[in-house]
Amino acid sequence: MKFGHFDDANREYVIETPRTPYPWINYLGTQGFFSLISNTAGGYSFYKDARLRRITRYRYNNVPIDMGGRYFYINDNGTIWNPGWSPVKTELDAYECRHGMGYTIITGKKNGLKAQVTFFVPQDYDGEVQQVVLTNESGSDKTFKFWSFAEWCLWDAQDDCTNFQRNFSTGRVEIKDSVIYHKTEYRDRRNHYAFYSVNDKIDGYDTDRDTFIGLYNGFHNPQAVLDGKCGNSLADGWSPIASHFKEITLKAGESKTLVFVLGYVEMPVDKKFEADGKTINKEKALAMIEKYNTPEKFAAGMKELRTYWDKLLGILNVNTPEDKVNRMVNIWNQYQCMVTFNLSRSASYFESGIGRGMGFRDSNQDILGFVHQIPDRARERLIDIASTQLEDGGCYHQYQPLTKKGNADIGGDFSDDPLWMILSVSAYIKETGDWSILDAKVPYDNDESKAKSMLDHLTVSFYHIVNNLGPHGLPLAMRADWNDCINLSCFSDTPGESFQTYTNPKFKAEGGYSKVAESVFVAALFTYVGPNFVGILNHLGKADEAKKAQAEIDKMKKVMMDSAWDGNWFMRAYDANGQKMGSKECEEGQIFIEPQGFAIMSDIDKDATKKTLAAIDERLNTKHGLVLNNPAFSKYYVEYGEISTYPGGYKENAGIFTHNNAWIICAEAYAGRGDKAFEYYSKIAPAFNEEISDLHKTEPYVYGQMIAGKDASRFGEGKNSWLTGTAAWNMVAISQYILGVQPDFDGLRVDPSIPHAWDGFTATRQFRGATYRITVKNPDHVCKGVKSMTVDGKAVDGCIIPDLGSGEHQVEVVLG
Ligand code: BGC
Ligand code: NOJ
Repeated sequence: MKFGHFDDANREYVIETPRTPYPWINYLGTQGFFSLISNTAGGYSFYKDARLRRITRYRYNNVPIDMGGRYFYINDNGTIWNPGWSPVKTELDAYECRHGMGYTIITGKKNGLKAQVTFFVPQDYDGEVQQVVLTNESGSDKTFKFWSFAEWCLWDAQDDCTNFQRNFSTGRVEIKDSVIYHKTEYRDRRNHYAFYSVNDKIDGYDTDRDTFIGLYNGFHNPQAVLDGKCGNSLADGWSPIASHFKEITLKAGESKTLVFVLGYVEMPVDKKFEADGKTINKEKALAMIEKYNTPEKFAAGMKELRTYWDKLLGILNVNTPEDKVNRMVNIWNQYQCMVTFNLSRSASYFESGIGRGMGFRDSNQDILGFVHQIPDRARERLIDIASTQLEDGGCYHQYQPLTKKGNADIGGDFSDDPLWMILSVSAYIKETGDWSILDAKVPYDNDESKAKSMLDHLTVSFYHIVNNLGPHGLPLAMRADWNDCINLSCFSDTPGESFQTYTNPKFKAEGGYSKVAESVFVAALFTYVGPNFVGILNHLGKADEAKKAQAEIDKMKKVMMDSAWDGNWFMRAYDANGQKMGSKECEEGQIFIEPQGFAIMSDIDKDATKKTLAAIDERLNTKHGLVLNNPAFSKYYVEYGEISTYPGGYKENAGIFTHNNAWIICAEAYAGRGDKAFEYYSKIAPAFNEEISDLHKTEPYVYGQMIAGKDASRFGEGKNSWLTGTAAWNMVAISQYILGVQPDFDGLRVDPSIPHAWDGFTATRQFRGATYRITVKNPDHVCKGVKSMTVDGKAVDGCIIPDLGSGEHQVEVVLG
């Protein structure tokens, strides 16, 4: 069952009912100011950091769900409703929500009154702009009452929802004309405030939540709205809000447009106040309001946003025989990659914005799907991430976006982290040809005095693996690898110990983790990523160093065959007792997905590739995608940790973890099996699951982290949408492996691995200053194999388009 439809021409998903199986959200803003907005206008805004600079409040896991948002209330002669249905939930005569690229349009109609609200965050602007168009379609004159509503968060989201003894006495506001200013703590240690404005005279306002809502009422029946008035209340402690009140009369057929701005302002310390030393300096806020205070200016802002996305999405555009592929590649997958690039795993409807800042491994992987869009921002991010690395190559696992400092609560010692940086820096160079990033001076541990070149960071990353091998010569698993639920040094038997941070005291003396537990996944990742490091060294003319690194990779491949090959697939690990994990000898968890794809793409052994792919199909494949492991763990294994705490079929315990499905899609394509690659791709690609939205539950336009696996009673149900490495990796899988348009150090490679039934496809790719119009023909109906390639009519050896630097070029590729 569907709850809406794709409007590809407008790049929108159109939701036709407010009762989606879960709130279906969108993200506004791509730079400093961000908003989450659901199809019923729930959600919240923050500046840069969802934990440290939260602007409006949201209630996660509330009953009912999705409470807190920017709400407009209408009281039309006793009928009370919201344009987005919630929170009042009066049945509407018509409802529609269009989620587009950086904007959302929600339209509701009731009793002949239509309210259309458009929300967006302009470029280079720290605020959400909202335009409300009210149209009287009733045929006769109408007078009704109208309220806006936003609830301020007291800046630090963690503190805001825990420290009530203090917070109930700090809230402060100021009101001037039609603008409500939120200035909690501005007098003291904060140099920032927020405001909510409307471009029209108002008939009143409220800034105190209890006056507006009533202590024993809810968002669904605010007292002021029930009474048809407002209290002109001044918040003083408790919960400050911002609500504008207006009485509106519209003749039959008449419309009224209001433009609201919910903005954020930072002030230099010496300019915080007016001459009286008390009143806040509103200059910047007024300039922001001025920028969007008419419908014309609003329309111009929306147009700019569209142009911005036209440009971004013009960099890579494909036309394949499958509409759903085109929709994912040209629109939604790229859009999601922008969101994951910006927010890592911090704030979604499943991530509270409090627990997790920017993840080291996460952000490095997010860059893989984003780098072609705005390479300069990727470069800046790479340097921020690398700056949190430690001198020995280890890394802080997370950092806070506001401070850019490593998060000491979580610490480091995740064994895979450093490798992802080699991959992301390589992806940046392959995209841009900008080798100068390797010379950039980048601090260690955020300490400028410890700055060394980015190349040095890559070198310590590579050798961090080599220098930390276990008894078999495989990389030590340390705290955890990519699967941070395989906690081989935890042995936790006490409730409340975080698997992410707890280490059993028995490993303290050894440096914090077992020196026996080894990760086959990290070994496979090392053999996949390592050649990039070798390629970089060769390019720099460091042949000896390249040779030395290559020798380590070759050695690791041998170790994998000698000590990690299980006969039909690669094992997962050796645990801290030296026992095999992910082997046919195990009772449960005999095969794991994670190491297989990277091992295959490292060309470790031809026969192993064949057997491994067959085993994956046989043991992990289901109608909804590939499960992470099989059989699922049915009891708690103290030696494995968190993975065995999830019921079978959920999360890392045999859930369909869509992130690592992409690694198999890549591997299948790499191995030339385009049909299989496409089968796995289409099982999890959201647009392909639109028809089963009732089962799938999460948004049909973006990937979620997990779909319940075959062992789960809710097999096929999705969770944790939006912020997942799945977005980047599936972008890589479809564009670089299946369609095969893959940036390389020497130029743009075109080496597709497609379903044999396809006649071919076309693609436009802007790359290092030139535009390539690529036509792939498949007359013999093969999956893979470039028979010939021409660029501007001239034959080229191999399948790499040489770097032409500028202009537009025709590329023809014939498979066969
Ligand atoms: C989840 C993982 C997540 C980790 C980090 C675990 O509980 O299962 O998917 O990466 O927490 O916070
Ligand atoms: C989600 C986390 O964000 C990611 O870092 C981790 O690799 C996966 N879960 C797998 O556990």
